[in-house]
Amino acid sequence: SRCFYFDEIPSTNAFILKHAEDLVSGDICVAEYQSAGRGRRGRVWVSPYGCHLYFSMFWQFPQGMAQAMGLSLVVACSIVTVLEKLGVKEVGVKWPNDIYLESKKLAGVLIEMNGQTDSECNLVIGIGLNMAMGEQHAAQIDQPWSDLTGQQSMPDKTALLVLLQKQLQQDLCLFQSSGLKAFTERWAAADLFDGQPVKLLMGQDEVHGICRGIDEQGAIILETDKGLKSFIGGEISLRK
Ligand code: BTN
Repeated sequence: SRCFYFDEIPSTNAFILKHAEDLVSGDICVAEYQSAGRGRRGRVWVSPYGCHLYFSMFWQFPQGMAQAMGLSLVVACSIVTVLEKLGVKEVGVKWPNDIYLESKKLAGVLIEMNGQTDSECNLVIGIGLNMAMGEQHAAQIDQPWSDLTGQQSMPDKTALLVLLQKQLQQDLCLFQSSGLKAFTERWAAADLFDGQPVKLLMGQDEVHGICRGIDEQGAIILETDKGLKSFIGGEISLRK
């Protein structure tokens, strides 16, 4: 696979989407700075120069969309595995794909799709990981965040990128051959919200329940007052 490196770019996700036709699974794009970094739900991903890791990987699912169900959880598991191998403690996941360190967001994942046919599905997996935030940028971020400063034996950005690329490639191959069930244990071990009371926001709707893990499609299972229910979309937060 190849790596397209940019000092500056609007968005590494946008680059991969634009060039999808010429890419093969595993190709990545990385940049020091994004002038229009994209987050989930149309939000901006603040991407200051040189501070963090911003990269995107191209992946094609030859059997189409259905094969990619639950992908976001797989990607979260890959990131956790790399961080744990590096000795980072207190890493966890928040459904469907946020990575937390000491209960604050460390990394986010944005998966986007490029024109899909019934037979194949081209995806871009974008990852933004806070390495060293720096005072001047912290104020721009509207949620509790963490970074990797203070961690012992942290590799530099390039080494971290190489580890993530390899782990993703390996996990995506496993996902393609064995499905999400190959990841349920890793997910459960890292799931910060398991057993917790949460509210799930879906557009205007709000559902309350206790988190009871994920189903075989990657949907979140909530124990509500109407029993166990699965939800494929939405945003969860802790209910105090
Ligand atoms: C989130 O909202 O949690 C997802 C953030 C994803 C940010 C990454 S940075 C690299 C890639 N390029 C983008 O424009 N977004 C993703």
